[in-house]
Amino acid sequence: MKQTNAISTSVFLAVTMLAASAHAQAPSAARARAAIQKASFGKTREGAGVDIYTLTNKNGMTARVMTYGATLTDLIVPDKTGTPGNIVLGFDKIEPYLAGVPYFGSTIGRVGNRIAKGAFSLNGQTYTLATNNGPNHLHGGIKGFDKVVWKADVVLAKDGQAVKFSYHSPDGEEGYPGNLDVTVTYTLTDANELRLDYTATTDKTTPVNLTNHSYFNLAGDGSGNILGHVLMIAADQITPVDDSLIPTGELEPVKGTVFDFTTPAAIGARIDKVPGPAPVGYDHNYVLRAAPAGQTMTLAARVIEPKSGRTMEVRTVEPGLQFYSGNFLDGTIRNRKGVPYQKHDAFCLETQHFPDSVNRPHFPSTVLEPGKTYRTTTVYAFSAK
Ligand code: BGC
Repeated sequence: MKQTNAISTSVFLAVTMLAASAHAQAPSAARARAAIQKASFGKTREGAGVDIYTLTNKNGMTARVMTYGATLTDLIVPDKTGTPGNIVLGFDKIEPYLAGVPYFGSTIGRVGNRIAKGAFSLNGQTYTLATNNGPNHLHGGIKGFDKVVWKADVVLAKDGQAVKFSYHSPDGEEGYPGNLDVTVTYTLTDANELRLDYTATTDKTTPVNLTNHSYFNLAGDGSGNILGHVLMIAADQITPVDDSLIPTGELEPVKGTVFDFTTPAAIGARIDKVPGPAPVGYDHNYVLRAAPAGQTMTLAARVIEPKSGRTMEVRTVEPGLQFYSGNFLDGTIRNRKGVPYQKHDAFCLETQHFPDSVNRPHFPSTVLEPGKTYRTTTVYAFSAK
């Protein structure tokens, strides 16, 4: 079977028992689960089967998530005329992902972002990790959570359609201590939100910093660069970095600098003046403003794409946000229609704890202890006008 046909040959998931219990609940829950589709998305090179789930909502939004990397492959959102378009970089077959793409849509772990020199100490023991990004460790190592096959279960959500992905990361995997059991639940709501709820538990003290690495282009995948997107980031400081993108440890005010997005500005307006080595662009962690009193979620960012009218808000409980302007896209990867992805053809807004936190005791802690449960939530909310 051709991979491209995988979606159209998908089967409806209709579990009578679940449907019966759902009817006793909100009608949207019954509708939600009945419409989730599951299909084969091919196999890994080791022969493990990969599945893809399609979630839809009543407003014409669709999200597709596959078990390889618990990866978001498509996010279809109507524009201001109601025309749907895919606004994340991704593919309709497994091969490009296996060949290696820079984390398009992936779930990142055990520790997202960088750990300096691939080393840290906890409880008097030093741990050595792969240095897969110059001298540093990036996004969980050589085979991070983006390159493993997760288990998937359709779950009941009160506000939309949901699939829960689970992965057991064994003690010592990629050099990290402790057996870590991780879940990420993708929920597509009728309020046009894609919500990601993560949990993790461990049996040894370990750092954990999970995120999603979707590359967005609100004008549509393959529609050129994102320099005209208007961005607001609710952050007054960044964690400045050295040339290998490791934080210096300071918090630097953005006021009056090219990093200031507290007032909405086009991503391209000052991008040429961002300091740092080529390829020039943003690749920085922002220190998010605290959530309003009595709330845990904070508005981290808002992005408006003027032509399509699409707007995305990012809300999170995380203290940081890596704004990456697709600097390393260089035309070598082509999208599903053959259009090459060039520098700045997409942007990422990765909610997270700060880079290298495990080596920076004054940053919010990424350390998870046995007996505790790591929980974090990020919402991407969409509208168009
Ligand atoms: C990093 C970039 C990196 C990109 C893709 C981002 O989170 O900050 O430096 O190139 O991921 O790997």
